[in-house]
Amino acid sequence: MSYGHQGVKQAEEESRIQKVTSIRRDNYKVTVSLSKERQMSQSPLYHKYDIQKYDLHPNFSFAHLATMIPSNTPEFIDSGQHYVERIVRALYYFKQCSLIGPSGTGKTHIVYLVAELCGLPVWEVNCGLQTSSYDLIGRFIGLGKENWIDGMVTRWLRKGGIMYLDEANMMKQDVATRLNPVLDTRGHLVMNEKDNEVVKRHKYGYLIISMNPYSAEFAGTKPLNAAMRRRMAVWINFDYTSVGDKISEVEVKMLRDRSSVDEEMALKIVQVGAELRKQYKTGDIPYGPSLGDLINWATLVYDGNTANVAAEETIVALTSDNAEVQQDVRRVIQTVFPKSP
Ligand SMILES: Nc1ncnc2c1ncn2[C@@H]1O[C@H](COP(=O)(O)OP(=O)(O)OP(=O)(O)O)[C@@H](O)[C@H]1O
Ligand SMILES: [Mg+2]
Repeated sequence: MSYGHQGVKQAEEESRIQKVTSIRRDNYKVTVSLSKERQMSQSPLYHKYDIQKYDLHPNFSFAHLATMIPSNTPEFIDSGQHYVERIVRALYYFKQCSLIGPSGTGKTHIVYLVAELCGLPVWEVNCGLQTSSYDLIGRFIGLGKENWIDGMVTRWLRKGGIMYLDEANMMKQDVATRLNPVLDTRGHLVMNEKDNEVVKRHKYGYLIISMNPYSAEFAGTKPLNAAMRRRMAVWINFDYTSVGDKISEVEVKMLRDRSSVDEEMALKIVQVGAELRKQYKTGDIPYGPSLGDLINWATLVYDGNTANVAAEETIVALTSDNAEVQQDVRRVIQTVFPKSP
């Protein structure tokens, strides 16, 4: 994902923290500077979504972590499900929520957008079998007790913002279990590995986990452990905007806007995408294209290639390496883009 963030420069960050702390001693100044700061940094999409009543960090500035707040995230489209609003509301009331849905339905995208809209830094871990408690909590490096490095979760607990655990059900159970006290009313982490230091969850520390549904086709996924499942108050299901014969006009428009192809071409590309997604959902092909994949295809068409040629390098190759599956994909494409004899 490259919605522009990550990579905190430690020294710069620490000096900013000090500045903000000193401003915060004078309440009046804080109010003035925060409202100005909000106006200046507000995302241009802020008023497109009905989220104004949910302030996720009242009277608190994350300006010192500005490099970690996403910017220029494209708009998120849906067909009336109001995903952005539901996520922001879940964070406001419960501080955490879970996003579940097939690959490419925009889960990661929406986390970045929500962070940008709400002015929150993102701490992200792409979970997998190799994710260890070192990555999440921290570790000593070299000799001597002073050489402790906080893991991602510990840094988030201390500094606040959104902790995003992508593919959370790929993580080993014993690692995931370490998070349980953080996620319930205790709201803290006990670092057994560091003289049992207790790290309290930041007042504005929010957590979002996302995952593909547990099934054979998503290799590596496991049912989420019951303890973590129970601690997630809100579950939001994601799906493609256009599937089968159901074509979303908004998806067509977004494809046009983000690739510059004309209306007719955009509609046809979405039609192919929708049919492939339908076949993916019925288990006939191993992958259904995301809007991002369709945009890549359309971009090559806009560059002057025929739809069939552009599809070879994008949609066909992406769906599978298997020659038979690729042939199935070509057949779907040719129903909409017949090849000249
Ligand atoms: N509803 C949507 N609105 C705008 N863009 C979308 C939408 N759905 C998907 N996309 C685009 O499709 C691409 C894939 O989305 P993303 O990576 O967020 O999917 P995901 O659900 O996180 O997939 P995975 O489960 O594989 O991580 C991105 O380029 C994203 O911008
Ligand atoms: Mg993702």
